[in-house]
Amino acid sequence: MTKNSGNDSKFQMAHRILDIGVSEILVIGARAKELKAQGRPVIELGAGEPDFDTPDNIKNAAIEAIKRGESKYTALTGTPALKKAIQIKFARDNDLHFDSNQIIASTGAKQVLFNAFMATLQAGDEVIIPTPYWTSYADIVSLCGGIPVLIPCSAENGFRLQADELEKAITENTKWLLLNSPSNPTGAAYSREAYQPILDVLLDHEQVWLLTDDIYEHIVYNDFEFVTPAQIEPKLKSRTLTVNGVSKAYAMTGWRIGYAGGPVKLIKAMSVIQSQSTSCPSSISQAAAVEALTGPQDILMERRDSFQSRRDLVVDTLNAIDGINCPVPEGAFYTFASCEGIINRKTPSGEVISSDRDFCRLLLEEASISVVPGSAFGVSPFFRISYATSKSELEEALKRISTFVSQLS
Ligand SMILES: Cc1ncc(COP(=O)(O)O)c(C=O)c1O
Repeated sequence: MTKNSGNDSKFQMAHRILDIGVSEILVIGARAKELKAQGRPVIELGAGEPDFDTPDNIKNAAIEAIKRGESKYTALTGTPALKKAIQIKFARDNDLHFDSNQIIASTGAKQVLFNAFMATLQAGDEVIIPTPYWTSYADIVSLCGGIPVLIPCSAENGFRLQADELEKAITENTKWLLLNSPSNPTGAAYSREAYQPILDVLLDHEQVWLLTDDIYEHIVYNDFEFVTPAQIEPKLKSRTLTVNGVSKAYAMTGWRIGYAGGPVKLIKAMSVIQSQSTSCPSSISQAAAVEALTGPQDILMERRDSFQSRRDLVVDTLNAIDGINCPVPEGAFYTFASCEGIINRKTPSGEVISSDRDFCRLLLEEASISVVPGSAFGVSPFFRISYATSKSELEEALKRISTFVSQLS
């Protein structure tokens, strides 16, 4: 994180954003683009979005909505058609049955998170976030006046939170536990068996609510069965917010539609926040999301298979490099590999790699490959590769990483 200084003599920013950083991922992306503009053959493995295009049936649904003149404000929490589509999706995929007033559609899952924390956190309330984590979580919690409580999860435990770690972290101020499965950045996912002990802990702490970010739900590999807590522990449903969106599954990051199902009072409070920020999500994007959620779903399998073959390529190649150790992720389109074995090695020009940040910086400057250091997700020394890029680019990138590492001494 690059902290804001807030020092400009004429401009004074609000205290609430002084500690909010500009994401390291964006900083790396900007440097990669700068090098590209200078003619360097940079391959970017930093971005967190699918390389696929939005499917045609979804685009056409949006075009039809434009033609029908659906260009006005919609109902605050989503059009009746979208809410119906979300109900269908939750019932079909997750065996979760929500009434219309238990659902909210927002401008991306990110706005859902923002609404939820803004609507519920009092100063001093704590939100438990297992790490490595998507750093926006902690920043959103802080912006909403809460305190992020980070629990490091080890590679040995598959980067998954353990019940005893959760039990220790809960205090009387704990308001939420935030879980993300499959995870950005590790790709780790919770099976039924992995979830249950955590949910058992929550059953003993009635003041703690659970927010699950399921945005990578459809990107899971082999025989892994995706499950979500409200589905497997109905006793927690009255204090669980199940968050999802169309960005990753349907390659719709720019359309900005996320949604959630949860208890009526919470959804109502979230809608108050939304009413004074964006009102409703884009009417055209909502029409597109209806088609995404209720149209043909076979594209999800095809794309998942494509991601899986790329995951296998990346994991196998990285593990063949001396000094790198890459666990096999259950889902999402990221690998989160340890570069511990490379720390303290020297480049041919004599520079010592003393952190994952150094490793990633030098990889970009010397091999024109952009990846993100684990430090950006709260855990070192690791690096995240987003393999949502073409196989030929991935092969070239992996070759360069391998050559770069082989030249270290
Ligand atoms: C874990 C996670 N949750 C949520 C989001 C944001 O999703 P949306 O595009 O719906 O705001 C992202 C985007 O990178 C993500 O990685």
